Amino acid sequence: MTAAPRGDRIRRALDHLRNDTTEEFDSVVPFGPEQYRDPGIAQRERDLVFGRVPSIVAHATELPKPGDFLTLQMPRNKVIVVRQKDGSVKSFVNLCRHRGALLEEQEKGRCRLFSCGYHRWSYDTDGSLRAITRDNTFGEIDRAQFGLIELPTEERHGLIWMVDDAGAEIDVASWLGPEVDDILAGYRLQDLLAVRSEGFDEPANWKLMQDAFTDNYHIQYAHPNTAGKHVHTNVQVVEDFGRHARMLSPRKKIDRWLEEDPGDRDLGRYVIDGHFLLPNSTLLRQPDDHFELLTFRPHPTDPGRCRMEMRLLVPSLEASGMTKEKWDEVWDKNWKILLAVLHQEDFPLLRAAQTGLVSANAGGMVLGRNEVVNQIFHRELRKLLA
Ligand code: FES
Ligand SMILES: [Fe+2]
Repeated sequence: MTAAPRGDRIRRALDHLRNDTTEEFDSVVPFGPEQYRDPGIAQRERDLVFGRVPSIVAHATELPKPGDFLTLQMPRNKVIVVRQKDGSVKSFVNLCRHRGALLEEQEKGRCRLFSCGYHRWSYDTDGSLRAITRDNTFGEIDRAQFGLIELPTEERHGLIWMVDDAGAEIDVASWLGPEVDDILAGYRLQDLLAVRSEGFDEPANWKLMQDAFTDNYHIQYAHPNTAGKHVHTNVQVVEDFGRHARMLSPRKKIDRWLEEDPGDRDLGRYVIDGHFLLPNSTLLRQPDDHFELLTFRPHPTDPGRCRMEMRLLVPSLEASGMTKEKWDEVWDKNWKILLAVLHQEDFPLLRAAQTGLVSANAGGMVLGRNEVVNQIFHRELRKLLA
């Protein structure tokens, strides 16, 4: 499918609002509780999804200078991501090749080399083994065999992507496909700044979480006094690009154009453009062209846990034309609202759902015809796991 201009998609949304309709697939899709609790399924997801396809781990501005690093728990590996001297980004398994100590304990920082706290072996930021203490006792070992294990990593569209398997290859452009690659290129996310980011270790399966952040059907019910006041419920214009999808949701302020003909007026400020990027990200473009990036990663062993990360990507102070005080105030306020909705509304609901999903007689469930992006997510996961 080719990507439709935003004006056309907004007009489709207005038609849906006038007719009280939304986009729908032909049928409902049944699914079972084992999806959220079965250790075998969880292991296959880690290996066949995260071990094979690229997922987003950071925004480039989180690692601006050579030696800047961050550490994270991927589904299959504990990882260090580090900016290289030549400006590229590499990732390594966060483990000392001597006796397996955790090499870097900090969540983020800047360093010239990684130095192990156990017996002080050290590694260059390019992963090569630099020094062995008391090295005469090790004799003639081949140092090239004991560098850090590298994981395929690529920076594209200002985002850092990784495949969580040392033997895999990475090609983000071909994973995205031409339509979505073009869409992301158009946003120039590399010019934005990750002004806030935070991670949440939640007691819920990663799919339960991911599903809540493409879903426009729950808005007025789960968020009646927050998002539900501003965004329409159960009206989404979806483009299905195969793996990935784009979904436009109208804000309530668009309603004045239901009667009045908008002509060729740009109604971009009345919509939120969401993007589901298989396997585990939702990217939301807000009306003033800042973005929220949400990622969801399975826990390395427990199907009932996951890590969610949220990032706020915004124009820099210089590009914004705002004063420093104003700029700080705007993003601070924005971030606090996002956190409040997560902590008070989405997280309690999703944690509780996970506790119910382990019930012995949980029974079968169903995705509606209106839950188009959720259907796309589950359809594409099934393909990756097949
Ligand atoms: S385990 Fe790292 S130096 Fe020994
Ligand atoms: Fe929600």
